[in-house]
Amino acid sequence: MENSLFVKAAFSKKVERPPVWMMRQAGRFMKEYRAFRETYSFMEMMKNPELATEVTLLPVDLLGVDAAIMFSDILVTAEAMGGNLSFHEKIGPVFSNPVRTKKDVESLIFPETEKAFDYVFKMIKLVKQRLNNKIPLIGFAGSPFTVMSYLVEGKSSKDLQATKFLINTEPEIAKLLLSKIAKVTTNYLNGQIEAGVNAIQIFDSWANVLSWDDYDEFSHFYINEIIQNLNRKNIPVISFCKGSSVFASKMAQAKPDVISIDWNADLLAIKQQLPQKIAVQGNLDPFVLYGSKEIIQKKVLRILEKMRTESGFIFNLGHGIMPDIPFENVKFAIDLVKNFKNES
Ligand code: CP3
Repeated sequence: MENSLFVKAAFSKKVERPPVWMMRQAGRFMKEYRAFRETYSFMEMMKNPELATEVTLLPVDLLGVDAAIMFSDILVTAEAMGGNLSFHEKIGPVFSNPVRTKKDVESLIFPETEKAFDYVFKMIKLVKQRLNNKIPLIGFAGSPFTVMSYLVEGKSSKDLQATKFLINTEPEIAKLLLSKIAKVTTNYLNGQIEAGVNAIQIFDSWANVLSWDDYDEFSHFYINEIIQNLNRKNIPVISFCKGSSVFASKMAQAKPDVISIDWNADLLAIKQQLPQKIAVQGNLDPFVLYGSKEIIQKKVLRILEKMRTESGFIFNLGHGIMPDIPFENVKFAIDLVKNFKNES
């Protein structure tokens, strides 16, 4: 897959147009996904390699994206460690046994990678067969900080009050938990590489609640540990966080190939501040996709034109697609990117 548009751009090589995919592309904004959900729960689909393969391929077939992302969730690492995970309509993920004390952390296990994530590795192999080298497959995991926040809170939370209480009262317990998650995540991602993914993305969706110093100490430190221990071979590593407009220079210290930028920053200004060999991904505000075609076109083209002379740019959103965004608007935005020409 070294010659695919996506991998070339991720390694900052010159491409005729930017590749495009969208975070959370394998999900509810497609009626075909919602049809599956009438029969199966999210967990049933994720744990079944055949069904997860079908969902992974939906946006490939329906949208013509330049990369597939495997259909799974960032919380599977926490579940494999002993978190009692379930998903609920309108509430989201719930861990019925929140982790708050040293004893709670100590009782989490180090799962056997091959056994615990067998269903994911099987799905990766199936997807690879079906893609038949047409486009690359992106594997992923959550960052230790973001995964910890779900384990500690027990359910989605707007301000991560319990997580911040833990790092401000018992930082050593938080660090014990973070380093446990980091080790499991490293093994999990290396297993995905072994199974055949063509790129890795690390999702740190909650980094934006942290101060600069706490981001360094409780998030960046563990992402760096994971990236340094990946068997990267010729596979690009993408680092995403909400808050990357602020944290990009710190994220660069972990030496990912690509940094995925939220929608707050001027993408070109960020690109120019980063080391030249680090590519950027982003950064359309996903809320634009609720808008009119005219304004979607204006805002997509604004990013494309701004980045026209840069190698090392992957078009994406600043965060994931929301479930009620109209499908045709997503398709419209993707086609705009696919019809764009970089300067030759
Ligand atoms: O990008 C993709 O489409 C691949 C699949 C994918 C899912 N979740 C499927 C999913 C990926 C990459 C994720 C990552 C994920 N999961 C993140 C990081 C990215 C981000 O958006 O910040 C986070 C924080 C989670 C945790 C999670 N999973 C939440 C909070 C929820 C419920 C709320 C929501 O966003 O839907 C989920 C469930 C989930 N994960 C669904 C899907 C398609 C919806 C399940 C359903 O009801 O059908």
